Amino acid sequence: MKRSTTQRRAPFPTLEPAEPPKQLSALETPTPVVDLDRLAHNLDRMASYCTLHGLALRPHVKTHKSPRIAADQIRLGAVGLTCATPRELEVMGDVSHDLLLAYPLVGAAKLARVMYIPHQVKLTVALDSSAALGQLAAASKVSQREVDVYVEVDLGMHRVGVQSPTDAVALAKQILQHPPLNYAGIAFYPGHVREHVKDQDANVERLRGDLGVYIAELDSAGVHPRVVSGGSTPTAWRMHEVPGVTEVRPGTYVYNDRTTAELGACGWEDCALTVLATVVSRAVPGQAVIDAGSKALGREPMRGVAGEGFGVVLDHPDVVVARMSEEHGILDLSTSDWNPQVGDQVRIIPNHVCVVVHLNDVIYGVRDSIVETSWVVAARGRTETEAAIES
Ligand SMILES: Cc1ncc(COP(=O)(O)O)c(C=O)c1O
Repeated sequence: MKRSTTQRRAPFPTLEPAEPPKQLSALETPTPVVDLDRLAHNLDRMASYCTLHGLALRPHVKTHKSPRIAADQIRLGAVGLTCATPRELEVMGDVSHDLLLAYPLVGAAKLARVMYIPHQVKLTVALDSSAALGQLAAASKVSQREVDVYVEVDLGMHRVGVQSPTDAVALAKQILQHPPLNYAGIAFYPGHVREHVKDQDANVERLRGDLGVYIAELDSAGVHPRVVSGGSTPTAWRMHEVPGVTEVRPGTYVYNDRTTAELGACGWEDCALTVLATVVSRAVPGQAVIDAGSKALGREPMRGVAGEGFGVVLDHPDVVVARMSEEHGILDLSTSDWNPQVGDQVRIIPNHVCVVVHLNDVIYGVRDSIVETSWVVAARGRTETEAAIES
């Protein structure tokens, strides 16, 4: 039986967080906690930067996966949101009616699910192949759904994206042949720019040059990109220096993490999310064991910058999570005179915050040692919830 759009759409999880305890010390660990002042500062800073430079902000929701944060981003001027999964689109459609899927949309199941996103949501998809375009064209025709399309171009990340301006022109022209698809522009992701912000000049210069060539060739072929969408958190503050960019898609900036701080793209004082953990053992000399292991912190190495371990202690930056089991994190105390005791709470700045968020159902919002609020990570996972369960 064909389901209606409303039946098919996945609701937010029914799991609403219970009234949180008032004191940080009363929270069961491990759990992610967000410093609300730091979060507000991060949101404001990016919104102000984009306003100042006339860039449209379309933040990537993969970092927070939470309607509450997305609503704040929209309130502060974001033109829409960027998503990576159908689940994120489904959840974020209630927050914004302007969503970009910045991930190749390939496969009948995913296509069908995306076509069920309510039609009042303006949907844009980035793609880099005729094959993906063919699938999207067929699906959009059947469901009579307009979809804007960006041609994804590779400017050095070497992950996805067409490999030359000629290919970009060819794909743009193909899109024009497939109404109700609309050719809207191009997208790139400068995820390869991973050096310290002080050392980004050469890579930013390369982006300027390469992007300029793409735009010039598209223009002269009569397929001007109305939107040029790029941006990551480490390069966010340089995007106004790249001519042609109209839209930016940073994600990590809302919470930041150890990698972002080490790259100099934020200060340590901008790391809003920490994993609250409890010291559960001091039996082995030179170390403390906390109850946050790989299932709380993710096993993410530092990327682009040097750094041992899987996270760093908030108030003791010389102490890292050196090793992990699933539920155990081993703090290396060998170079520190800090002497935590069993039962003490510690806060860990994770290497890569997006993965930590994805491991949790609920985030607690704190100011100092007071827990003020909590919210659901509603877009985590991939489930179609009741649609999948019922059938
Ligand atoms: C396509 C795309 N756009 C934007 C972003 C956001 O970048 P960042 O996490 O550095 O903020 C990502 C991150 O993975 C991405 O894959």
